[in-house]
Amino acid sequence: MRAWHVGALGEPRDVMRLVEVDSPSPGAGQLRVRVLASAANFPDVLMCRGLYQVKPELPFTPGVELCGEIIEIGSGVEGFAVGDRVIGSTEIPHGGFAEEAVMAASATFPAPEGLDDAQAGGFFVGYQTGWFGLHRRAHLQPGETLLVHAAAGGVGSAAIQLGKAAGARVIGVVGGPAKAEVTRQLGADVVVDRHTEDFVAVVKAETGGRGADVIYDPVGGETYDRSTKCIAFEGRILIIGFAGGTIQTPPLGHALVKNYSIVGLHWGLYSRVEPAALLTCHEELTRLVGTGALSPLVSERLPLEALADGVQRLADGTTVGRVTYVAS
Ligand SMILES: NC(=O)c1ccc[n+]([C@@H]2O[C@H](COP(=O)([O-])OP(=O)(O)OC[C@H]3O[C@@H](n4cnc5c(N)ncnc54)[C@H](OP(=O)(O)O)[C@@H]3O)[C@@H](O)[C@H]2O)c1
Repeated sequence: MRAWHVGALGEPRDVMRLVEVDSPSPGAGQLRVRVLASAANFPDVLMCRGLYQVKPELPFTPGVELCGEIIEIGSGVEGFAVGDRVIGSTEIPHGGFAEEAVMAASATFPAPEGLDDAQAGGFFVGYQTGWFGLHRRAHLQPGETLLVHAAAGGVGSAAIQLGKAAGARVIGVVGGPAKAEVTRQLGADVVVDRHTEDFVAVVKAETGGRGADVIYDPVGGETYDRSTKCIAFEGRILIIGFAGGTIQTPPLGHALVKNYSIVGLHWGLYSRVEPAALLTCHEELTRLVGTGALSPLVSERLPLEALADGVQRLADGTTVGRVTYVAS
């Protein structure tokens, strides 16, 4: 079968090679799947660069999530059958950027019927992260103001839809007019183009000076620092990621003086610490697909051979929604 291999560290376009390899074998607790679709996620970029918290041995196949069809079941796995259409996390080094991949049964769930393969192939990481962040960690309430950075991106677009579904007023921050239009279509109440506007001023104006109750920050660095200027009394800033390339070191005295919380989220830890919570979340997300509240934005549906260029566009910060490999 064909698979993308990362054999050296660097930019995705430079280090991803499409190669012919043997099919992987599922170990205990694992599933082997035929990949139907697999969305590119920023962690795939960071793994190529050797900058992610998970550092797989080289070579490895990236692709942290997918929608697939089960073709082989490892020992000790119950509740799945060959032919099931599923979504979930992959077991790197056998990631989703290939014709076949390996998944952990504990992080595999039925694909929602309301989503096609491309949408389902990007429905796991971003939406689960958004749900755990907004509900479990930040306790977002109806009527609160939610500010989402990188709002047109993968996790950002999911957070916009989840915020609206929760009854929040949502302000999205993006880089450029095309992303601003996408974010409006996603349902954001207010959109800020960070290239031409100061999001701090807009948030203050929109909230009568109070600030945002919850800030969803996948960018970090200066974006985080500026966010502390428009966080509300008893607000919560969610530390989602550092797509901007800088990990901030916040002055904690500021959080004390302004009475806000800095809330970390490592969604992947839940699969180890509390796997049952992933199922609860999946069921709620599937229900929200049924109501029409959630609809993953797939901006590019690519054949396998075009994937390295797509992952590079994600790395360069120019994509919206999900760039997704869809099997023919
Ligand atoms: N905490 C968790 O458990 C968890 C889980 C999943 C993902 N994440 C993190 O969430 C973040 C977003 O992931 P994603 O896959 O959804 O990516 P993405 O948001 O689709 O892409 C990154 C976006 O960040 C913005 N950005 C700002 N500065 C950038 C720079 N220097 N380089 C590239 N992008 C830049 C860009 O949007 P604008 O131009 O619109 O600002 C870009 O589109 C990543 O940091 C990822 O590691 C965290």
